[in-house]
Amino acid sequence: MKNSEINIKIKRICCIGAGYVGGPTMAVIAKNCPNIRVDVVDINLDKIKNWNSDNYELLPVFEPGLVDIIKNCRGKNLFFSNDIKGIIQKADMIFISVNTPTKTKGFGKGKASDLKWVESSARQVAKYSKDHTIVVEKSTLPVRTAEVIKSILESENNSINGKSKKFDVLSNPEFLSEGTAIRDLENPDRVLIGGDNDYAVQALSSIYQEWVPIDKILHTNVWSSELAKLTSNAFLAQRISSINSISAICEATGADIREVSRAIGSDKRIGSKFLDSGPGFGGSCFKKDILNLVYLAEYFGLPEVADFWEGVVRLNKWHQNRISQLITRKLFGTLADKKIAILGFAFKANTNDTRESAAIQICKDLIEEGAILSIHDPKVKKAQIIKDLHNENKILLNTKWEKFDEIETTFKDADAVVILTEWEEYSNIDWEEMSIMMRKPAWIFDTRSIVDIKKINTKNLNFWQIGNGTLS
Ligand code: UDX
Ligand code: UDX
Repeated sequence: MKNSEINIKIKRICCIGAGYVGGPTMAVIAKNCPNIRVDVVDINLDKIKNWNSDNYELLPVFEPGLVDIIKNCRGKNLFFSNDIKGIIQKADMIFISVNTPTKTKGFGKGKASDLKWVESSARQVAKYSKDHTIVVEKSTLPVRTAEVIKSILESENNSINGKSKKFDVLSNPEFLSEGTAIRDLENPDRVLIGGDNDYAVQALSSIYQEWVPIDKILHTNVWSSELAKLTSNAFLAQRISSINSISAICEATGADIREVSRAIGSDKRIGSKFLDSGPGFGGSCFKKDILNLVYLAEYFGLPEVADFWEGVVRLNKWHQNRISQLITRKLFGTLADKKIAILGFAFKANTNDTRESAAIQICKDLIEEGAILSIHDPKVKKAQIIKDLHNENKILLNTKWEKFDEIETTFKDADAVVILTEWEEYSNIDWEEMSIMMRKPAWIFDTRSIVDIKKINTKNLNFWQIGNGTLS
């Protein structure tokens, strides 16, 4: 590294994209680096208005611990704005944290990521940035996207005061989990920085070193970093599909998935995390990242590899259908005009995010079978459920469901309750009392293993639990 470069300090960071990743990540950087000014910009006017609201209920992202950081840092060294041009002009380092959904049409449709937002962000950086800018890929991207970003940055006719602008592109994937984002960011297992320019790598590393022990900051080349992110998510999702596949065998054979998980998780080589069978994985990343990997494998002529990973997504979809089918079967093969209470719509607890939530597919299947749903979720807003419960012809299914704010009211006259998200409050329900309000024979379907079977009087209630073969 040249001496002249060592002294350059990052004073201003800009993050393009104020979503689930950009918002919390920048909040934690601002908290731990009081001498750096952090600006988060977004094209969405409402989102920025809500990030700036004093009514913290309106913050676009719900994450435990986030409000405290916003209270302490916003207006001091953390700012949210729509002034994309003005903020880029002043930034030393720019994080790209925009969404990268799966392409719905064209080449790579259904698998490849749509990079249009990343591309437009790179073009804005190319146009407005100052002389030397470090660009950091924060969004999860297909392998070799850094190359695309770099060529966009360098292809614009880019000079300032007669001097060519200089860009370094780093990959710094995010490993935060929604619901524990602040904890994951404050105390990460590792921070991964992919890049080949020492100065840029050190500049980013020094930011994390403000609160992350240096031995947890890993440096790799850009491609390894991009691939490591996709692979991490693919491995995690693979564990869930594996355990969900075994839950079906448990139900068929009289075994119990919780006992099987505990037994295999005690093997240190396997480990105990990510072995909870549920309604199928959701969230913005798992499916998308695996499909990206599948696309990559196909592109490089590795069909067996592609098929192996695609199997993880296939199993997940099959598992969700399996749950809606068994609910229908248990309710005498028809759901016509039956009322079903749905507890939980978010893809997991402690988040208001519903992207790829198993609840969406399961609710659609149940409505398709004729059921009327009463839905409860402590954080998901009704407007979001309206968006999610379109059928394929984009016809709103709103007449087929209602959203309730009180758990109790969802139970009234219900034939069945289906627990789809593991919200803490659902584990404290008095099932005996609730069953009085239900139509008999009443059912509980627990896909999250949160109901204590000892607290259920099976004379009043029929009970099904994921992977519990001892019940049938
Ligand atoms: C995530 C991650 O960045 C990505 O790695 C993951 O694969 C899926 O998307 P996330 O923060 O969860 O991003 O997405 P989202 O909450 O949708 O936020 C993205 C934000 O970028 C939105 O607020 C959107 O308005 C903004 N955006 C998008 C821009 O500001 N400019 C654009 O050009 C496009
Ligand atoms: C994931 C990765 O964990 C994170 O590292 C990455 O940065 C983004 O993607 P996230 O999608 O927020 O995070 O949630 P995660 O906790 O991984 O859960 C994903 C899905 O798997 C959820 O639907 C969850 O309910 C399900 N899950 C998780 C299980 O069904 N069983 C488990 O044991 C764990």
